This record gives sequence, C-alpha cells and structure tokens, in this order.
Amino acid sequence: MTGFLELHSAAVAQLEAAATLEAIEAVRVEFWGRKGKLALASKEFGKLTPEERARSGKLLNEYKQAFEQLYEFRKARLDAAALDARLESEWLDLTAPAPGVRPGSLHPVTQVQKELEDLFVSLGFAIMDGPEVETEHYNFDALNIPSHHPARDMQDTFWLRDGRLLRTHTSPVQVRALEKFGPPLKMIAPGRVFRNEEVDASHEHTFYQLEGMMVDRDVSVAHLIYFMKTLLSAVFHRDVTIRLRPGYFPFVEPGFELDIQCLICGGSGCPVCKHSGWVELLPCGLVNPEVLRYSGVDPKEWNGFAFGLGLTRLVMMRYAIDDIRLLMSGDLRFLNQF
Ligand code: DAH
Repeated sequence: MTGFLELHSAAVAQLEAAATLEAIEAVRVEFWGRKGKLALASKEFGKLTPEERARSGKLLNEYKQAFEQLYEFRKARLDAAALDARLESEWLDLTAPAPGVRPGSLHPVTQVQKELEDLFVSLGFAIMDGPEVETEHYNFDALNIPSHHPARDMQDTFWLRDGRLLRTHTSPVQVRALEKFGPPLKMIAPGRVFRNEEVDASHEHTFYQLEGMMVDRDVSVAHLIYFMKTLLSAVFHRDVTIRLRPGYFPFVEPGFELDIQCLICGGSGCPVCKHSGWVELLPCGLVNPEVLRYSGVDPKEWNGFAFGLGLTRLVMMRYAIDDIRLLMSGDLRFLNQF
C-alpha cells in the first residue's frame, strides 16, 4: 500500500530528531495517536481486496511495532538524560561538614551572675531586686553618703528631671531589703548600675554589680572573710589568698578593700598585678550603724557585713576581656565566643 512507508519513514526521522520527552510524545500522537496519520490509514482498507488488506494490515502492524520500539528506546534515553541533569543540579555532598545547629547563649555577665546566685542561695542568701530609677534617699542619704561625697558629684550621677536618679550602685537594695524584711537577713542584689562617665576601654555608663549583705547578731569581720573566701574560691575554682586593706565608704565602718593574691604569678609579682603580688577585687566592710538606723534596725542589737562586687569587672577578669565596651556592643563576633 503506497504512502505507508513514507509516513513511517517520516515518523522514524522525527522521533530520532526529537530532543525532549514532550517532542517524542508529540510525534507519537501525530502518527500513532487515536487520530494519528498511520492509525487512520487502516480506515482505507475497505477499498482493498482481501489479499491486499491482509498484506497491508501485516505491514502496518510491523511499522507500528518498529515505531513503538524506537519510541521506548528514545524515551528511555531522554528519561536518563533528564535524570542526569537533575542529579547534576541537585546533588548533595554527604561527606561535607554539616553546617551545625547554632543555639543562642547567655551573655557572659548573665552566666557569671547565675553562677554566683546559685552559690549564694546554697549559702542561705536570698536574691533581691531594687529599682534602677532610684530616689536620692535610697541611693545616697540612707547610705550615709553626705552631700559633699564625690559619689554625689553631678558628673557621676544621671539625674532625672523629677529629682530621682539612675542608681549609681546596688547598695540602695541593702536599705530597701532591711526595711522590708528586717534582721536577721542574708541577701544579695545583682543588677545594673549607671554612672555619668566618659566611656573608654575601662569605663562604661552602664555596668553590673552584685551587692551582698548579712545582718545578724554578733557578725564580725571573720564572717566577712569566711564568705568572701568561699565566694572567691568558687569563682576562680581554686583556693585563694586574700587580704584586707582599709578603705573608705560612708556606709561601712570599718571599710575595706579586699585584695586577692595574684592568680597569675601566685604573689611573686607580674605585669597583671603590676608586680605587687595582689589584685584589688572588691570593697566591703561592716555595715555602718547609721545605715542600720536609717533602715529601721537597732544597731545595739544587730550588726552585719556588706560587700559590693563589680560583676562586670569580675567577668572581664575571668575571660580576659580587655575592653568593657565589648560587653554591651551586641557584637555577635564577641558574643558567639561564650
Ligand atoms: N557601693 C559601692 C560602689 O559602688 C561599693 C561598695 C563598697 C559596696 C563597700 C558595699 C561596700 O556594700 O560595703 O562604689
């Protein structure tokens, strides 16, 4: 039957030229789909003699099988090529190092604060809080700070228009706590304090202190030394040697500067301790009877010790941070190290 061979040859040529799965499908529909050119050819068989019809039918069947074989072959090739392309673009290197989960972490000041809180709670101290916006009374007067004291200098204190101020230390919480709970009392008060300072590598307008106080009957300097040694051994993870030097703070009498024997050189002298063998660590003393009186506590019956730990300073010592501004910078390159 004329025409079949030409059609079949055209179908085969187009199949071989088609470069996509859509294109070979289009060729199949064109020739062997329900209304395809070769599929419809059998409709014309009616005009043929029985012998011609049988021959033509057989021929058409062979063409169809040949086409289907070639179609499957081309389809397999194109499927494989599509898969190769996908593998090329979507590969995943299972041997590459994982990007890793990066959980957040607590600020170094928070970490050390929590550590100290746990320690003091284990020693029977309560954790207390006071306002950051404080009155002149609690920040100064009740702490026996007379108006000529340098801490009252306008340059040191952020005053608010209404006469209140940003607390310059955590010591006001001593008075608030005594007023509220009375003696006997063992408390610490960690928190933020503010000074109107020129900011540089060792001065910030905002930093952290941890106030501590114990008021009971017959509290002596021996109690103070015991608690400070316990505290510092826990902080530095080793036994520490301390010494007290006289220091003046209006709210303690006697007042001390507590030094710790240099942990770097063991006391023989090095650049860290400026060759003195000692590092100044925290001010402390026995609570001034005036402060007890201001807090409504009878100093004939009760006395106590107090200390003001520079939390920010301690964190800087612990992690060898040489610029205080890093702590409040929010710089992730810094924070990610903790
Ligand atoms: N409040 C003092 C300051 O910020 C530090 C201080 C000194 C606190 C002696 C105390 C203390 O409790 O006894 O400079």
